[in-house]
Amino acid sequence: MSTVELPRLQRGLFIGGAWREESSTGTTFDVVAPASEEHLATLPAASAEDVDAAVRAAHAAFEGAWGRLSGADRGKLMYKLAELMERDLEVFVTLEALDVGRPAFEPRAVDIPNAIDVVRHFAGWADKIEGRLIDALPNFGRPRHSYTLREPLGVVAAITAWNVPTMLACWKLAPALAAGNTVVLKPAEDAPLTALHLAALVEEAGFPAGTLNVVTGLGPVAGAALVAHPGVDKVSFTGSLEVGREIGVQCAREFKRCTLELGGKSPQIVLADADVAAVVPGIAGGFLANQGEVCAAGTRIFVARSLYDDVVEGVGEIARSVVLGDPFDAATQMGALINARQRDKVMSYISAGVEEGARLVAGGERPDRPGYFVAPTVFADGTNDLRIAREEIFGPVGLLVPFDDVAEAVRAANDTRYGLAAYLWTSDVSAAHTLARQVKAGTVWVNGAGAPDARLPWGGLKQSGVGRELGYAGIEANTEEKVVTVVL
Ligand code: NAI
Ligand code: MG
Repeated sequence: MSTVELPRLQRGLFIGGAWREESSTGTTFDVVAPASEEHLATLPAASAEDVDAAVRAAHAAFEGAWGRLSGADRGKLMYKLAELMERDLEVFVTLEALDVGRPAFEPRAVDIPNAIDVVRHFAGWADKIEGRLIDALPNFGRPRHSYTLREPLGVVAAITAWNVPTMLACWKLAPALAAGNTVVLKPAEDAPLTALHLAALVEEAGFPAGTLNVVTGLGPVAGAALVAHPGVDKVSFTGSLEVGREIGVQCAREFKRCTLELGGKSPQIVLADADVAAVVPGIAGGFLANQGEVCAAGTRIFVARSLYDDVVEGVGEIARSVVLGDPFDAATQMGALINARQRDKVMSYISAGVEEGARLVAGGERPDRPGYFVAPTVFADGTNDLRIAREEIFGPVGLLVPFDDVAEAVRAANDTRYGLAAYLWTSDVSAAHTLARQVKAGTVWVNGAGAPDARLPWGGLKQSGVGRELGYAGIEANTEEKVVTVVL
């Protein structure tokens, strides 16, 4: 870790185009590198007063310079931002690997290119947001010319999680800005560094002051103040079910628009025709990528009984072979969990799995080294009723369960309060499409797993959340359709 320099970093609140090195109360919080437990930065913890200043700045920009730009000009600034992000790709990779404790190859190969692509994708939408001409009935005998305008909402509050912080920030700010909104971003206190670099690039790109504001700080203070602020028109949140429920209730009370992405307990179903050697790496990656700190992690793995022993053995072998270590060591395949609390939570689920009688196939222990590491852990022979099958663990823990008929597997896959993603492993085309309709999930992958694409709607069913982000759904989620009728 000591070989890696922390890139030049803005360390303040970014409000109305200016950096504030201190919060109004002087309160701060520390940012720690999970893989080494080293101190990375001390940042201002925004107060309700700072949040108010950020919302006012966003509102002023919405009513002012940003609101007056054409879609094409908003798009130009966003393309410029994407270019600067590309220039600084390694800065983002370094900050994210340090801040999240994940191996640098992941943000380099996946997250930062995804975030840049998302900004570019929505830059392209900015001048293509169209209304409709609708053939309505005449009004008291006179023809009517009715059309719609798709208009921005105003100030969008983006509250993000720490697991994939750069992607999450861009998934929220890019569609919001493309549609003409302004944004106040409250990044997770556990991984806020890349949000500050994004703000620095927004400044460098020349966006009008107040278009994007970033308030670093604690959820119950800065996050709660943002959700409660009457000047916020929409909240877009990614994080825990518990906080998401609170935010949803508060938004409903004030009739604020709200998009929630609350994680999951996603199933993988391995059909009897699957080629075990070919699919096992994908199955393992489905719950081990990013230390398992992935909202769409495929943690409940239902396997046709004829393949079960081979899949258990193959997945167990991969889990045991994973190299844990320093994010910047080229050999490292998995990093540390985000903090001691998350590590302890994951360890307590592992104990619960053992106590409830699942068979521990791999891992289960905490490596003896600095950092919040947990060994990749595989359980087998459990049922879908175990706590480790019902609750989101958010760590590198998977459970394999055998099945005898496919209908039973689908029933078990759907027997969860969540519905974010599902993964099917089969070479039977007809079975793949049939099951894709039967599983209750916002996204179904067949024979693969990866990050959501900018062009595809992303979101969950049931308690995985409300609403969709990305693609045109992201534009719809950040606009309202207004009807104009001219009586001819
Ligand atoms: P969290 O839900 O507390 O944090 C997410 C974001 O919400 C952070 O920016 C936080 O500052 C903010 N926040 C917290 N309390 C708030 C409040 N009262 N009002 C407004 N904003 C608030 O998640 P946490 O505690 O970091 O992780 C706990 C569990 O949540 C994890 O173990 C995992 O199971 C789940 N999780 C799910 C994620 C997903 O992708 N859906 C991402 C991160 C965590
Ligand atoms: Mg929390």
